Amino acid sequence: MATTITRTPHKLPIIFILLAFLITIFIFSKRSLDPHLSIYTTTDPYNPLPDPQIPPNSNSNSNSNSTSGFIKSDSTPKPPILQTELKTETGFVDSEPLDENPLLQSKQNDPELVNEDSGTEIEVKTSVHEDGLVKKSVDWGRSCNMHSGKWVRDEGYPIYKPGSCPFVDEAFDCQANGRSDQDYVKWRWQPHHCQLPRFNATDFLVRLRGKRLMLVGDSMNRNQYESLLCLLYESLPNKSKMYEIHGYKITKGRGYFVFKFEDYNCTVEFVRSHFLVREGARINGQGNSNPTLSIDAIDKSARRWKGADILVFNTGHWWVHGKTSRGKNYFKEGDYIYPKFDAVEAFRRALKTWGKWIDKNMNQEKLVFYRGYSSAHFRGGEWDSGGTCHGETEPIKNGRIIETYPPKMKIIEEVIQEMRFPVVLLNVTRLTNFRKDGHPSVYGKNVTGLKKVSTKREDCSHWCLPGVPDAWNELIYATLAAQSQTN
Ligand SMILES: *[C@@H]1O[C@H](CO)[C@@H](O)[C@H](O)[C@H]1NC(C)=O
Ligand SMILES: *[C@@H]1O[C@H](CO)[C@@H](O)[C@H](O)[C@H]1NC(C)=O
Ligand SMILES: *[C@@H]1O[C@H](CO)[C@@H](O)[C@H](O)[C@H]1NC(C)=O
Ligand SMILES: *[C@@H]1O[C@H](CO)[C@@H](O)[C@H](O)[C@H]1NC(C)=O
Ligand SMILES: *[C@@H]1O[C@H](CO)[C@@H](O)[C@H](O)[C@H]1NC(C)=O
Ligand SMILES: *[C@@H]1O[C@H](CO)[C@@H](O)[C@H](O)[C@H]1NC(C)=O
Repeated sequence: MATTITRTPHKLPIIFILLAFLITIFIFSKRSLDPHLSIYTTTDPYNPLPDPQIPPNSNSNSNSNSTSGFIKSDSTPKPPILQTELKTETGFVDSEPLDENPLLQSKQNDPELVNEDSGTEIEVKTSVHEDGLVKKSVDWGRSCNMHSGKWVRDEGYPIYKPGSCPFVDEAFDCQANGRSDQDYVKWRWQPHHCQLPRFNATDFLVRLRGKRLMLVGDSMNRNQYESLLCLLYESLPNKSKMYEIHGYKITKGRGYFVFKFEDYNCTVEFVRSHFLVREGARINGQGNSNPTLSIDAIDKSARRWKGADILVFNTGHWWVHGKTSRGKNYFKEGDYIYPKFDAVEAFRRALKTWGKWIDKNMNQEKLVFYRGYSSAHFRGGEWDSGGTCHGETEPIKNGRIIETYPPKMKIIEEVIQEMRFPVVLLNVTRLTNFRKDGHPSVYGKNVTGLKKVSTKREDCSHWCLPGVPDAWNELIYATLAAQSQTN
């Protein structure tokens, strides 16, 4: 008895100090790991055209005071983007007729290629839905859960060398812009319970033969698009057999690209659509034009989507900047403009509009992906107030932040669940959570030769190429390979 009494006074302070120490460590590591999701730069003095760059961190942050704590609400300055968008409202930048099928235009010279199975272990479930539509979905859940895995170092990576690909625009061309660490290109995504097939561009193209693959979305999808072009370009023995059919160079200002692969009679296309639903304008009392967003009408570019055989959608990052997240005199249903409307609810309704369009316009021959939220990693500030990811050279190994799953992703899952058409969700949120090292940070433009690099605005939303989006395209390849295996 006596011993316990005399000991307690010594034990208590030690436990106390230990606790305090642990708490400090926890707070410190949380502080440095939490991505300060936020807006990415919207103005570029060198580019007068509308910049489809990401604003904000998107899917998660309309719940401004949600538990995660690092989410900031719409204190963002009104981006110039929406106004410039109005110009494209009247029509596309390009002059091609919308319904034109680029595949029906040119001569053809197919090489004899063997279509072999590539030995993927991913299982594809095929089941007949009530209304007779075949519900095909890759069963990542049982035999291969693609979103659960880790990044492993692989000396065989990257699949294409930095600087070797002419389709990477300056914003993602980190090494050419002066980034000197190179480890960030050497990681391969490895699901815990299965092996993804090694990316085989030739095989990818064989599977695309006679088809049109189209990515539709914001600048994150353009990031992925450029990655895909590079992955495929790398394998071509004669590079001049791949070209943009209008002769366009990829810039952020343009909203439509069609790359044709002559030997495979296939195209890989990009259609810019920030919201997937229709942007418009309203003239107010003073005669000024204000942007609106019709959440019950599909985007005008949907006329293009129809012609594609394989589609990859995304949206999200544009739902959180000023106008959209404030929701004042902006969201529209029918002819009615809501004086005030919640952006999260608007997002839900817009996605449902998209879902309805897919259900109505897509048939069994088509394959539709939705690429989920890609994480941003801003430390210590916002996109415009010194938020940074500069100096990160390694993925996050583990930590609480890895578990973050944005509420908007839950909405996407819900909408997909209710749809008749079996959309394949590319659930890249978790795999991107790890990659705080993959962003351009200050290397979104050429800093070679600069004495002082401005760290005022960093890009911690998009990804360097080669880099993380290559892995998303590997998942698309895995899906294509797994699918035709069961056909
Ligand atoms: C955020 O906080 C405000 C006031 O503190 C509260 O009224 C509102 O319901 C909160 N919103 C969420 C999404 O938690
Ligand atoms: C890639 O795919 C092509 C066409 O299916 C095949 O001929 C080739 O052997 C594959 N290459 C590798 C390394 O598996
Ligand atoms: C190219 O593919 C399209 C669409 O599948 C098809 O209609 C067309 O005949 C093909 N062209 C050639 C030359 O094979
Ligand atoms: C590559 O393709 C172009 C365009 O089809 C052709 O003119 C050229 O002769 C080809 N080069 C080689 C080496 O086959
Ligand atoms: C997507 O991944 C997250 C983990 O980041 C997980 O919580 C969620 O259930 C996954 N969704 C689907 C549909 O697999
Ligand atoms: C970047 O700037 C340096 C020095 O001004 C120049 O030598 C280099 O060619 C530039 N790189 C690119 C990709 O423009």
